[in-house]
Amino acid sequence: MDVVGAAAGDDHIAPPEEYEDIVSTLPTAMTFQAKLLYQYQGGWVIYHRIRGLLSFQQRFTPRSGDVLLASPPKCGTTWLKALSFATMARAAYPPNAAEHPLLRLNPHDCVPFVDDLFSAGHHDQLEALPSPRLMNTHMQHAQLPPSVADNPDCKIVYVCREPKDMLVSMWHFVQNVRPVTFSDLFEVACEGKTPDGPFWDHILGYWSASRSSPERVMFLQYEEMMRDPVGVVRELARFLGLPFSAAEEAAGLPASIAKLCSMEVLKGLDANKIGTSGVLAKYPHKSYFRKGVVGDWINHMTPETAVRFDAIVHDKIRGSGLSFRSPLV
Ligand code: A3P
Repeated sequence: MDVVGAAAGDDHIAPPEEYEDIVSTLPTAMTFQAKLLYQYQGGWVIYHRIRGLLSFQQRFTPRSGDVLLASPPKCGTTWLKALSFATMARAAYPPNAAEHPLLRLNPHDCVPFVDDLFSAGHHDQLEALPSPRLMNTHMQHAQLPPSVADNPDCKIVYVCREPKDMLVSMWHFVQNVRPVTFSDLFEVACEGKTPDGPFWDHILGYWSASRSSPERVMFLQYEEMMRDPVGVVRELARFLGLPFSAAEEAAGLPASIAKLCSMEVLKGLDANKIGTSGVLAKYPHKSYFRKGVVGDWINHMTPETAVRFDAIVHDKIRGSGLSFRSPLV
């Protein structure tokens, strides 16, 4: 495996103009960002990614050993990218190496985001990557083509987060694009109309896949990563078929990887303080590293608002066996 490099996508190619016959028939809604969402296969897809999603479904050729990281936005994608990259690439790049790619590149420049690559017509970049490939998506599980979703040779690692904290993180992030009040975002989220939403369907889709195929879909929660990052690194390595050897354990590799990918280390690097990432929309690197705590919702929601949101989430996930553990609820 190798890094994609910070320059990936700089020579911007316009999104494919195809699939008009499908796109023109899809239901639409406006987001809090005043951007158009298309409803496709149960999910709300942001307008500049709908053709990329269709293109991915049609064109993506999985390879044995592919690893796809999946998440709803603002649930720890950047962290999971860093941890997975550092774990999978540890033979070539030991976590303590002074020249480790994560010390000079933002995690989004180490792991390609397939939704944007396909939307920009840059999917050939995936073909050029050596195996095993590590990629990420915000697509819902129901939107993955069967060649990925049912492929015994492809693994999926999913991360989600306690929904109130996800919402707070999203609110801070969208301020990079346009000022939106928290209550506007809250109302949109209650209707499930955030990008890649409804977030409850996003979570339940991967949750159910992980329950039926635990060897192919690993399900993580941000809160458990916060509680035991070293344990999660070990679990991740085992799931990916790359368990730490006794010698690696003795050398403290799981802890070194967790440290390298910690908020404390990554947030302080120049690579994550300056510059932007993204093929279609460029986001400041620093916008991916904010507080990184559990329970920040308490600073943005009244108890009544929190109860209303919890009730919606509770109702949606009832009977699934899934629960969110936040120390404050
Ligand atoms: P907050 O806004 O609550 O701080 P994503 O990567 O999916 O966009 O999610 C961003 C959230 O993950 C932000 O949460 C960000 O601060 C947090 N985050 C990013 N890197 C992290 C890390 N290394 N450890 C813990 N949290 C991290």
